[in-house]
Amino acid sequence: MAFGLSNRVKGIAPSPTLSIDAKTKELIAQGRDIVNLSVGEPDFGTPEPACQAGIAAIQEGFTKYTAVPGINELRKAIVKKLLEENGLAYEIDEIIVSNGAKHSLFNAFMALCNPGDEVILPAPYWVSYPEMIRLADAEPVIVLTDESTGFKLTPDMLQKAITPRTKALLLNSPSNPTGAVYSREELQALAEVIEQHEFYVISDEIYEKMVYGIEHVSIASLSEAMKKRTLVVNGFSKAFAMTGWRVGYIAADRMIVKAMTSFQSQTTSNPASISQRAAVKALDCFDTRAIELFNKRRDYVLKRLRGMPLIECIEPQGAFYVFPNVANIIGKSYNGTKIDSANTFATLLLEHANIALVPGEGFGAPNNIRISYAVSDQDLQKAMDRLEAFLKEVE
Ligand SMILES: Cc1ncc(COP(=O)(O)O)c(C=O)c1O
Repeated sequence: MAFGLSNRVKGIAPSPTLSIDAKTKELIAQGRDIVNLSVGEPDFGTPEPACQAGIAAIQEGFTKYTAVPGINELRKAIVKKLLEENGLAYEIDEIIVSNGAKHSLFNAFMALCNPGDEVILPAPYWVSYPEMIRLADAEPVIVLTDESTGFKLTPDMLQKAITPRTKALLLNSPSNPTGAVYSREELQALAEVIEQHEFYVISDEIYEKMVYGIEHVSIASLSEAMKKRTLVVNGFSKAFAMTGWRVGYIAADRMIVKAMTSFQSQTTSNPASISQRAAVKALDCFDTRAIELFNKRRDYVLKRLRGMPLIECIEPQGAFYVFPNVANIIGKSYNGTKIDSANTFATLLLEHANIALVPGEGFGAPNNIRISYAVSDQDLQKAMDRLEAFLKEVE
């Protein structure tokens, strides 16, 4: 008999991106003029027709439990989207909708992993993957990538990471935090290795719409064999600015979807009925102007960063982040304070330059920082001016 928390939760670190964002918003509320480059959400609103569909759902009393994996109308719309946009033919019972892609991913790990299973996770990775893999009693096998391969996993790196305990490979293209996007050829080369083995691919494609000068390819679309073993993860948060509505989904083999549905039925039930109705409408409302805007901001940030001392930055091809390398800053000092890590650098920027961004440690990349350019042009310029002025004081 004893009080105390489970070992499972004692080991979890809170999401650093969400905590920095929360801390920044608190400081802004206290009156500090901080530019928040830590955000992981678009700076535009949910499309009006989607909002109206949500309002109509409430007014019509569509406010009760729905089928656990989502309403047929939404699952059908997702089937259509996957066929038309990704060249993927699924049946409705191969789709499960959850409370955001984060929830979809957690369900997937819980449905697939046994204690001791390994999930190959290329770093830099989105902060939540390793924690979710551990929560599912599996082990993340982290494969470090850096600028030399454009932050991408190569077939050789993959081959070396595979063991008899490999249960899945996590692929995230376009990537948070690096903005890396795998080309069709790169995916084909990875698929050649994957197809020699028996393990799943969890393909997080939530940033698929945010690509600049390159096409998004789903690894599942390369062959029937790849489709069979791939869980395609996607959601409405990024493409449709619906972070607060909490709608994500997975398309996969029906045996896996059935297991995830049972798991979801005993844990969270259906995603919000109102959000599902809004999501159906959102699928018809993608605004390509947002991509042009992001592309312009990406070019601007890159140009500014490349003009600054001590910072190196490769060109990201997707998502809305740049991931500069700050190794040349670590070890230097700012006004007598030693900058001993990316973390310290980010803390000093928040305290002395009023810029909030996310240090790379949480992404498994201690030499980098993540800058989100999903903020207004004015804020972006202000932040770049402040960063440049700060760096002049680093010696
Ligand atoms: C790579 C990646 N996957 C999944 C998610 C989860 O998105 P949501 O749960 O809002 O659908 C995020 C959110 O930041 C992300 O960056």
